[in-house]
Amino acid sequence: AADDTTMFIFGAGGDLVKRLLIPSLYNLDRDRLISPKMRIVGIDLAEHDDESFRRHLKDFIADKAADNHSESREGSLDESHWRDFEKRLHYRQGDFTDGAIYRQIDEVIAASESDNALFYCATSSRFFSDIARQLGSAGLLEERNGRYRRLVVEKPFGHDLESARELNADLLEVMQEEQIYRIDHFLGKETVQNILVARFANVLFEPFWNNHYIDHIQITAAETVGVEERAAFYDKAGAMRDMVPNHLFQLLAMVAIEPPAAFGADSLRSEKSKVLGAIRPWTTEEAKRYSARGRYAKGTLGDRQVPGYLDEHGVDAESETETFVAMKVMVDNWRWVDVPFYLRTGKRMSARDTEIAICFKPAPYAQFRNTDVERMASNWLIIQIQPNEGMWFDFQAKRPGPELEMDTVKMGFAYKDFFDLPAVTGYETLIYDCLTGDQMLFQRADTIENGWRAVQPFLDAWSEQSEAGEPDIEAYAAGTDGPTGAHDLIQRDGRVWHKVGEATGPGVA
Ligand code: BG6
Repeated sequence: AADDTTMFIFGAGGDLVKRLLIPSLYNLDRDRLISPKMRIVGIDLAEHDDESFRRHLKDFIADKAADNHSESREGSLDESHWRDFEKRLHYRQGDFTDGAIYRQIDEVIAASESDNALFYCATSSRFFSDIARQLGSAGLLEERNGRYRRLVVEKPFGHDLESARELNADLLEVMQEEQIYRIDHFLGKETVQNILVARFANVLFEPFWNNHYIDHIQITAAETVGVEERAAFYDKAGAMRDMVPNHLFQLLAMVAIEPPAAFGADSLRSEKSKVLGAIRPWTTEEAKRYSARGRYAKGTLGDRQVPGYLDEHGVDAESETETFVAMKVMVDNWRWVDVPFYLRTGKRMSARDTEIAICFKPAPYAQFRNTDVERMASNWLIIQIQPNEGMWFDFQAKRPGPELEMDTVKMGFAYKDFFDLPAVTGYETLIYDCLTGDQMLFQRADTIENGWRAVQPFLDAWSEQSEAGEPDIEAYAAGTDGPTGAHDLIQRDGRVWHKVGEATGPGVA
């Protein structure tokens, strides 16, 4: 189990805390991975005492576990275990921008057996700098006598390159990089971590993993959910800021990095930073040409009619926010020269599907009768992040019969066929790593800035369009896979998107 500590959660009344943080801590406790003495102190403006805070969390989690429609695998709530777990939970009411709460934090730590503390910023991002500054001036970030003081920062980490730089500078003014844990929850997914194992623990893939054999790579994060109850945040962010410089670029980094010299936080993060730093900076003109934005209009999902984005609760009627983005980026290095990476993500698409699709170049010569290279289907490797976690390889086989005809067949690995997928939220690994001091799955300052640097030309291009009164956001019906502009973007290069939600292997429902 991890060393004893006190975990302070700023923004304890928020959605993330009841949906993910507390359930993950509960799961870690169930698996005996946290110290029996660890305490968790929620901090927020709302009025609560320990009792009502515990009740508020339990009611939410129990309701959710009972909800059969829940898509998640977070596991259920065991009453007697919860009664033990909830003793760890405490609450302090306070304003993050005011010194008083930091004096209370100091007292809580002084009264604990351990001097360690983990501060978790689950607040709106506008408080991150302030919280760090206050913790710093209250002396709460000093590490001495073997104790640790760590800060976990949720996303969004900045709004653009400049604000991300400022936030990094603010944090680094009061603490060391080794104390900062910038969360990207995609890195908590088993399938994302597995990309490195697939690539570097096998001899089979790496010889083909370069511009000699790969034609292009597609990275997709398609969601069926809409904006949900998050308009206040989402309408200011949009699909690009919400998903690309963080989640999609982490996927890109995992498929594109060079083998790290060692399996450690710094080697791995340096490689990631290098590869994101090698993304070609588009001019604003190129950024316009190589991107497409969309916004969902009303439509049908399964048998449900759903409203369009502009009719969602809390969305500004004049909103210029995209709920879908597709883009092309080039990675200018030895391995990836001339291999385009096409990225897309959107809400209210036809299926939930997060995948990396690697399209290989055609065979160099077709000696089979009636076949030419152009007509021969490409080999594809699909790394399915969720759902139906696994990896599938499409290749050509001879169709039985007297004629020589080919067909595409699949070879695959489904997680569920080999492993029990544990009942987890995906946050467990990340929190455990914060508690044990392993930064491998967290973003370093330079990685974050390189990510923003690559998306900045798109943001600039779009604000130019907006200032000219010509925002280029195309509607797509909910339940479809993005606007026509996204299809044009890839078709201009003579390619097509891998179908969203396509069953990728035998036995996949
Ligand atoms: C979050 C975004 O970071 O990731 C959400 O803010 C998005 O808008 C979510 O829905 C997707 O994560 P997952 O794990 O459900 O694929």
